[in-house]
Formats: sequence, C-alpha cells, structure tokens
Amino acid sequence: DWNMPDYIEEAIGRIRAQVGNEKVILGLSGGVDSSVAAALIHRAIGDQLVCVFVDNGLLRLHEAKQVMETFSRNLAVNVIHIDASRQFLEQLKDITDPEQKRRTIGREFVEIFQLEAEKINDAKWLAQGTIYPDVIESAGSHTQKAGTIKSHHNVGGLPESLHLKLLEPLRELFKDEVRELGLALGLPHDLVFRHPFPGPGLGVRILGEVKYEYAELLRHADAIFIEELKNSGWYEKTSQAFAVFLPVKSVGVMGDSRSYEYVIALRAVQTEDFMTAHWAELPYTLLAKISNRIINEVRGINRVVYDISGKPPATIEWE
Ligand code: XMP
Repeated sequence: DWNMPDYIEEAIGRIRAQVGNEKVILGLSGGVDSSVAAALIHRAIGDQLVCVFVDNGLLRLHEAKQVMETFSRNLAVNVIHIDASRQFLEQLKDITDPEQKRRTIGREFVEIFQLEAEKINDAKWLAQGTIYPDVIESAGSHTQKAGTIKSHHNVGGLPESLHLKLLEPLRELFKDEVRELGLALGLPHDLVFRHPFPGPGLGVRILGEVKYEYAELLRHADAIFIEELKNSGWYEKTSQAFAVFLPVKSVGVMGDSRSYEYVIALRAVQTEDFMTAHWAELPYTLLAKISNRIINEVRGINRVVYDISGKPPATIEWE
C-alpha cells in the first residue's frame, strides 16, 4: 500500500519539521540517490537547499553539463559547480595502486567539499542520499571494500568535521522506490534508470596511473558503448556496463601502415545485488558495431576486447 503522492507529502512535511528555516548542503554526484534526495529536499524547502557538485575530471562524457542542466536549469535548484579536474589529476599523478587511487580521490573530494561547505557559513544540515540498503550494509558485517565504498559514497566524516546535522530523507527506501520517487518528482527517465557509477569514477576504470589523455579516450569509447546499448535496447537488460582503459599498446593495421595503440575492454554485467554477476551475452552483431565504431572514431584505440569473466572470481570493476 505504497502511495506515491501521499508519500511525497509526508516526506516533505517531515523535512520541513526537521529543518525549519535552516540551510541544508548536499553533495550532488549525478547518481540516482543524491539526485532524488536533492529533488525531494528542494520540493520541501526550495532555496534553503544548496547543492555542491564537484567535477573531479573522472566523470563520463558531458556528465557535468548534464547534471547542471537538469538541476540548475530545469529544476531551478541552487547548485554550485566546482571544476576540480586539474586538482584531482595532479593529486593522482604517479599513483598506480587501486586502493591508493580510491583514497586519494576520496580525500580530495572531502577536502574540496569541506572548503565549499564552510563558505556557506549559515548551513546547519548536511543532506545525503543514503538509502535503506546502505543503512543495512553499514550496520551488518561487511568486507573492507564495501566499507570503502560507503565511506566515499556517503562522504564519511564530513558531518562531524563540519559540525552539521545529518538529513537523510531516503533512509527507509529501497532502490526501486527511490526510482519511483524520482520520476514522481519530475527527474528525467535517463537519470532515474542510470546504471550505478562508482564514486572514484573513471579513476578506477583507467588501469594504473590516471592521465588526462587516457580519460579522454575512455570517455569517448564509453559514450559509444552506452549509446549503442541504449539504441539496441540492451542498456535496460544489463545492470552495469562500461568501458575500461588498458594502458597497453598492441599492433594493428591502419590503411597501409602499422599502428601501435591502446586497448579498450568492454564490460557488461547482469546482477541482482552486485555481489555476484554474470557477464551479459550481448549479440555478436552489436559487439561488432561497437568495436568498429570505437576503433574508427576514437583515435588512439586500435583494439577492443570483451570481458567474459563472472563475479566471482572477477569483480565488476577492473580495479
Ligand atoms: P565490484 O567491482 O566490487 O563492484 O564488483 C560492485 C559494485 O560497486 C561499485 N563500486 C564502487 N562504488 N566506490 C563506489 O561508490 C567505489 O570505490 C566502488 N568500487 C566498486 C561497482 O561500480 C559495482 O556497481
């Protein structure tokens, strides 16, 4: 007996009662949870909500622009856009270890977010898009990695260091309820049904050292992959799909000459809970089209491979 309009009214009432006329800060990532939280809180308290969107340079193609258009332009949400791409890349220089990359990205994010939050000096609340499965996950026994995921995802440590109270209006909802709520609040279908994207972004999809050149190649290859999945109806039939950049060169032929360029790996999985996953049996014709497009359109890539590893023993991400 879940009734969406009633639920929204109730949730709005609760947020208003909790927050009163105080200001709220929210770190907008562009993902489903923080987006729905932002839309709901904005519906409740309007301009008392200030969102901070940090571009770490590890986002997908046109992602920053899309987030700003959706929230700032269409929903008239107050969003501060911080372009910190250069800063993140500088910090990541020479780092090759996956966990060290994660820690560096997480630390940098907290630092930048904190600086921005301190400028909004009368804010009393920090809003987060924590959903019910996150609550259970943090309460139960969990692996080191899940701990890391949550600590970045929910900007761990920030409420304490900023002396802010926590506002988590999605705490009781499951993912499908969050999506339904998002649609009811007027968020675009593409955003609401987006595959999950890790907090460290392309930082863990570029194997080894992260470089701007690699990120650019990966962004373009990934955009082609996702576009073709959407056009063929396979995006909705997969739980997560993305390209991975391998900093390895292999030989190819281009016209009359030899090429010596990088490799892109494609990953597409089907899963219920992301704890185990099957690789998606994409049609060969679709894979052929994607591979041709990537090799023809992304200068610097001359080989595309498809990942046929299940989880376990492989993880979904390559790092
Ligand atoms: P793995 O690679 O462990 O991924 O099979 C399982 C799910 O978690 C996501 N993931 C992350 N999300 N920060 C995140 O916010 C991270 O560091 C991180 N690592 C993995 C991954 O995209 C998949 O959905």
